[in-house]
Amino acid sequence: MTPPNARLTRPQQRFKASYIEGVWEFIRENRTVSWHPAILRRRFDEYLRVLQQAETDPLAGMVPSSRFWLIGAGNRYLGDVDVRHHLNEALQRYGGHIGYKIRPSQRRKGYGKLICRLGIVEARKLGIGDILITCDDDNIASCKVIEANGGRLQDKIDNDQAVLTRRYWVLAGG
Ligand SMILES: CC(C)(COP(=O)(O)OP(=O)(O)OC[C@H]1O[C@@H](n2cnc3c(N)ncnc32)[C@H](O)[C@@H]1OP(=O)(O)O)[C@@H](O)C(=O)NCCC(=O)NCCS
Repeated sequence: MTPPNARLTRPQQRFKASYIEGVWEFIRENRTVSWHPAILRRRFDEYLRVLQQAETDPLAGMVPSSRFWLIGAGNRYLGDVDVRHHLNEALQRYGGHIGYKIRPSQRRKGYGKLICRLGIVEARKLGIGDILITCDDDNIASCKVIEANGGRLQDKIDNDQAVLTRRYWVLAGG
């Protein structure tokens, strides 16, 4: 199933209202967000600059990473994906090259599979060959998303969390 009218874009001002609605949904499901909507409303430009900076001039301990938003019909923000330009030790154990999320109201419509697929395309543009994607062992939806995108399970490792971390590779050769 390929959802219609959904495309990846760079974060930008014109999707501000819809993006903030999406952030409220993540908060309502108790997900930690880096910028609260009250702050975003006042300092959206600054938020966009911080995202840009993460690409070229990341904070200490972080690798450069590119953020994209999935935008659907009616210019609705659907979710986001981070593409990390290379792996550090931490990302090799947890996080990998690609991390994504879909706003709760838009789940189970195929957007998870789509955003992962489009994230892989962006990673390839950056010259990343073999792509590592990780997920919690009990995250059935994410396991399905990764497997639908050709992910091959390497192993399950203990990261001192409640559940093991699955490490999948999407290989350059397919
Ligand atoms: C993981 C996530 C991105 C999936 O998004 P989505 O839009 O629901 O994904 P899709 O609609 O493409 O569904 C993929 C598969 O998972 C299944 N699925 C989705 N949610 C599910 C759930 N809560 N329980 C069981 N299966 C689920 C779908 O039915 C589909 O299965 P199928 O391949 O048999 O048809 C979304 O749940 C999410 O954002 N979760 C929170 C953040 C997160 O876990 N990110 C991944 C970090 S590794």
